[in-house]
Amino acid sequence: MPATAALDVAALRADFPILQRTVHDGRPLVYLDNAATTQKPRVVLDRLAAYYGNENANVHRGVHVLSAEGTEAYEHARRSVQRFLGAEHAREVVFTRGTTEAINLVAHGLASFLEEGDEIVVSALEHHANIVPWQMAAERTGARLRVIPVLDTGDLDLSTLDEVITDRTKVVAVTHTSNALGTVVDLAPIVAAARAVGAAVLIDGAQAAPHTTVDVQALGADFFVFSGHKTFGPTGIGALWGREAWLERLPPYQGGGDMIDRVTFEKTTFAGLPAKFEAGTPHVAGGIGLGTALDYLMEVGMDAVEASEHELIGYAEDRLGAVDGLRFVGTPRKRAGAISFVLDGIHPYDAGTVLDRLGIAVRTGQHCAQPVMDRFGVDGTIRASFALYNTPADVDALVEGLATVRTMFG
Ligand code: ALA
Repeated sequence: MPATAALDVAALRADFPILQRTVHDGRPLVYLDNAATTQKPRVVLDRLAAYYGNENANVHRGVHVLSAEGTEAYEHARRSVQRFLGAEHAREVVFTRGTTEAINLVAHGLASFLEEGDEIVVSALEHHANIVPWQMAAERTGARLRVIPVLDTGDLDLSTLDEVITDRTKVVAVTHTSNALGTVVDLAPIVAAARAVGAAVLIDGAQAAPHTTVDVQALGADFFVFSGHKTFGPTGIGALWGREAWLERLPPYQGGGDMIDRVTFEKTTFAGLPAKFEAGTPHVAGGIGLGTALDYLMEVGMDAVEASEHELIGYAEDRLGAVDGLRFVGTPRKRAGAISFVLDGIHPYDAGTVLDRLGIAVRTGQHCAQPVMDRFGVDGTIRASFALYNTPADVDALVEGLATVRTMFG
C-alpha cells in the first residue's frame, strides 16, 4: 500500500520510546493492542517526570508557590480537555479515574431522577462499563434496561429506534465506537430519537477519542466520557464532559475535601463545578499528563490521525480478508481502531500466544463485552487494534504471524 499521505508515521513513531523495544529473543515489538491501552509519547513521560521531580504539590489548597503552580498546571490540563472535546466551558470537564468511573458518576447521579417504569436504553455493542452501572441504577430505582440490537454486520439496527426509545426512556447511553468490533456507531439518529423524548444522552467515547475529532457540541449529547490511558495519557485518569445544566442538577458522587462550600455537623453545602465532582486530592500528575497527551494529539491533528488510520484499517481489512480460514466478527459500515476475527478451528488464546512469541501484541478473548460475543456466537475473538503510530508493516507482520499460527494449529 502507498505510504499514508496524512501523517509522517515514521516521525511519530520516534516520539514513542516503547516502540523501539524488543520482546522475546530480540523481536521488534508489533503493538496492536491499542484498544486496551495506548503507548505514551515522550512529551507525556517527560511531563510526568518534571511534575514529580520539580513541581509536586497538592492543588487548590496552598498559598505556596508549588501549590499555585500545580493548580495552574492542573487547570491548564482541564482547558486542554475542553479544547480537545470542543466544550463550551472548562467547568463542564470533570476529571475522573477513567471512562468507567465517569459512567458510574453519571449513572449514580441520574438514578436520583429515575422511577419505576422508566427506561434506560443502551446498545448491544456496549463494553461492560456502559452496561453494569446502568443495571445497578435500574435495580436501585425499578427502571428497566432496553437494548438497541446489533445486525450481523456489527452495525446497530437503527430500524428499531422507534420501538426501543419511547416516552418511557429517560436515559440513552451508547458507545461512539465499539471496543470489541470497531464499529463506529451512527449516533445522529440515536441522539435525535433520545432528544425527541427528552431523554438524557451519554456517549462512551473511550474508543473514539484516540481516533477521531470529537466535538461534543455537534454530537448533541449531554455527557461524553473517555479515558486518558487509551488516548496516549497516563492510567488512572479520564474525563467526563457534561452540559453545565445537567452537571448542576446531578448530586455529588463522592463526598470529601475540595467538593464542598461549607461544612458543619448539621449540613454541608457543595462547591460549584467542577469541584463538586472531584472529592479528595485529585490525580494531579495524571491530569497534567492527560492534558499533555491531548496537546500532543491536537498538534499532530486529529483529522490527519483519522485519515491515516482509515487508510491503514482499509489495508488491514484487505490483507486479513485474504487469510485462509479467517472470519471477521463484524464488518461494519464504518470502522475505527479495531478489527475482530476468528480463525477456523483455532482458539483465540492459542493464536494470541503464538503471535506474542513472534513479538505481536493483540488482545484475545471477550474484550469486556460478553453480550457482543454471545450475539455473534463466539467465545472470544482475536482483536487487532490500531493507533496513530501503526504502519502497514505492522499489518504485514500480523498476517505473517497468522500464517505461522495456522501452520502450528491448522
Ligand atoms: N476496554 C479495554 C479493551 O477493550 C480494556 O481492551
